[in-house]
Amino acid sequence: MNLGIEGKVALVTGGAGGIGAATCRVLAGEGAQVVACDVNLALAEQVASELRAGGASAMARQADVTDETSVKNLFAHVIGEWGPVEILVNNAGFTRDMRITKMSVNDWDAVVDVILKGAFLCTREAIPHMTGKRWGRILNISSRAHLGNPGQANYSAAKAGIIGFTKAMALEHGRNGITVNAIAPGIIATEAVLNLPHFPKIKELAEGNTPVPRVGHPDDVAQTVAFLASQHAGYITGDVLHVSGGRY
Ligand SMILES: NC(=O)c1ccc[n+]([C@@H]2O[C@H](COP(=O)([O-])OP(=O)(O)OC[C@H]3O[C@@H](n4cnc5c(N)ncnc54)[C@H](O)[C@@H]3O)[C@@H](O)[C@H]2O)c1
Repeated sequence: MNLGIEGKVALVTGGAGGIGAATCRVLAGEGAQVVACDVNLALAEQVASELRAGGASAMARQADVTDETSVKNLFAHVIGEWGPVEILVNNAGFTRDMRITKMSVNDWDAVVDVILKGAFLCTREAIPHMTGKRWGRILNISSRAHLGNPGQANYSAAKAGIIGFTKAMALEHGRNGITVNAIAPGIIATEAVLNLPHFPKIKELAEGNTPVPRVGHPDDVAQTVAFLASQHAGYITGDVLHVSGGRY
């Protein structure tokens, strides 16, 4: 199936990490011009150079999505080089797990900021240009944790919050040809997850409790992003698609 996104400018935040890098690869494979944005420039550059070596248009940019100036500079650079961002994937995120009584304000702020403020700042930059083109796709990476996980009050709250943000943006911008959707992955075997000391236990639980009895692969999420970013998904907005093997 031709997704119809050839030549479109796609910006993936956290593009150096497991799901972000896989998303960059899949979008580039569909002919999009891909920006891998990350705090870790060296890793983002690895992703971009691998894509360029394969014949794709790709650039790496260092940006901290929680910093307004950094995000403004990122968009100004990309727009100056390639024109408006038409596909935005708000993917940057991390966990700082702790029972609530042990959770510091820093642990709370860091997680909420990278997920919610990051998506807010990037979306705010992208929307005017998408509106000008009367076409845009915004994909917000939530998590199955939006349903609530013990030890993840900060992460669960932020991942539920991004679903509310998604729905508000879908209502605001649908009339301008912009769709906004959230993806809620289950356990995805990125390097960080594979390196967890208790990964064997996580894997065993996933295989035992998940209707599709395996952990997810970054490509499971990346292919979902690509479909929702495609021309074929123009009538889907404000939705949450779980990529969790049927485990809710
Ligand atoms: N792996 C999973 O099981 C899983 C499940 C559900 C949801 N998710 C979500 O998917 C997204 C990607 O997760 P992943 O597993 O690939 O993680 P990852 O750690 O491999 O990648 C995240 C990337 O975000 C970057 N990043 C962190 N803070 C940033 C900032 N302030 N500005 C820009 N970039 C920043 C990191 O440098 C890293 O490259 C996250 O939002 C995560 O919460 C992951």
